[in-house]
Amino acid sequence: MTTTPVGIHDLSFATTHYALDHAVLAERLGVDRDKFYLGIGQERMSVAAADEDIVTIAAAAAQPILERHGADNIRTVLLATETGVDQSKAAALYLHSLIGLPNAARVVELKQACYGGTAGLAFAAGLIARDPSQRVLVIAADIAKYELDTPGEPTQGAAAVAMLVTANPAILALDPISGLYSADIMDFWRPNYRSEAIVDGKTSVNAYQKAAQEAWSDYRRQGGRELSEFAAFCYHQPFTKMAYKAHRHLLESQGHTAEAADLEAAIGATTTYNRTVGNSYTASLYLGLASLLDHADDLTGKALAMISYGSGSVAEFFSGTVQPGYRAHLRTEANQAAISSREMLDYDHYRALHEAVLPTDGAYHAMAEETRRPFRLAAMSGHKRIYEAR
Ligand code: COA
Repeated sequence: MTTTPVGIHDLSFATTHYALDHAVLAERLGVDRDKFYLGIGQERMSVAAADEDIVTIAAAAAQPILERHGADNIRTVLLATETGVDQSKAAALYLHSLIGLPNAARVVELKQACYGGTAGLAFAAGLIARDPSQRVLVIAADIAKYELDTPGEPTQGAAAVAMLVTANPAILALDPISGLYSADIMDFWRPNYRSEAIVDGKTSVNAYQKAAQEAWSDYRRQGGRELSEFAAFCYHQPFTKMAYKAHRHLLESQGHTAEAADLEAAIGATTTYNRTVGNSYTASLYLGLASLLDHADDLTGKALAMISYGSGSVAEFFSGTVQPGYRAHLRTEANQAAISSREMLDYDHYRALHEAVLPTDGAYHAMAEETRRPFRLAAMSGHKRIYEAR
């Protein structure tokens, strides 16, 4: 039986209006900036303006996809986030009025730390296998925020990635095999009463490496490819050095030596965007994929490994084949512009944004116009978020 290939037909990302350079943070914290630039592999991080949230960046990521492909037959919209704006209503429902999603669709929010976007992709592939005429819009959007003056602070960031998942995809056809691993662990979590995550950093680094290795073992048990078949390894990147650590761990666990040049060849091109955007939780892995496709030499016909990890924890090792002609479908210029057009923050402004809290009294509060991105949070009124296109 031949099965129709399913995968990523289009991929678009968006980030926030502001960014902070890690040199500014290092100076403030009294640490050598190379601890951030080299030690964790982060140079800048995106920071949300007061009138931005995951809805505004998700809308900005998804809009170009609808402009290029229309909304017909998008019968499912899956938005993954761990920094949602409501405990009940799915964030993607706000996108109907902002970018014109179809009403004849199921719209759901998914959560499992940084893994949620991968769950969305897997669920989308299942729905399309059932009916190849349908298309699924998968969006991963997060604004990563840790407490000030903690080790997690330099690993903040923000981005949204939108993917149109279809039969006969133009960019990446997904292999039907996945390796899975889940375990109950407290390495990173955010109780409902907190706006910032709690993280046991060292535990999370070790848990990530173990989970990735376990997911790989399961992938092989399911009949997946050999390590040597992959042209590149795209890892979830809470900070880019993590991808190098995890890949070294995986190679060594399989009896290979991990030379620096081999690691760079396998990982390097996946880190360009994350190095300057920071951790975007659910979006991070797919920002890594965008970075790889935008920066690597021709990948036509090559197999890519995708390694997803969400604390708590769930990991998935999956793979796909880059499609002929994929380059014509990339959004390299727009992606680079989204990053280069950010306004750099000074420390005091960053700190003020970090400490700001939204009003909770239910009265009308207009938000000062700050972002120059396509969508903004214009006001809070009657406990409702009021969005507008700019
Ligand atoms: N120049 C170059 N490298 C330097 C340096 C300098 N001046 N100073 C320190 N470093 C290196 C360290 O050697 C270390 O490298 P290594 O990990 O390869 O050993 C790295 O910088 C980080 O230093 P460390 O002292 O371990 O940092 P930290 O205690 O501040 O914590 C994290 C780092 C990642 C644990 C912390 O940022 C964190 O908790 N982040 C959030 C959790 C997270 O992202 N988890 C990932 C899994 S989901």
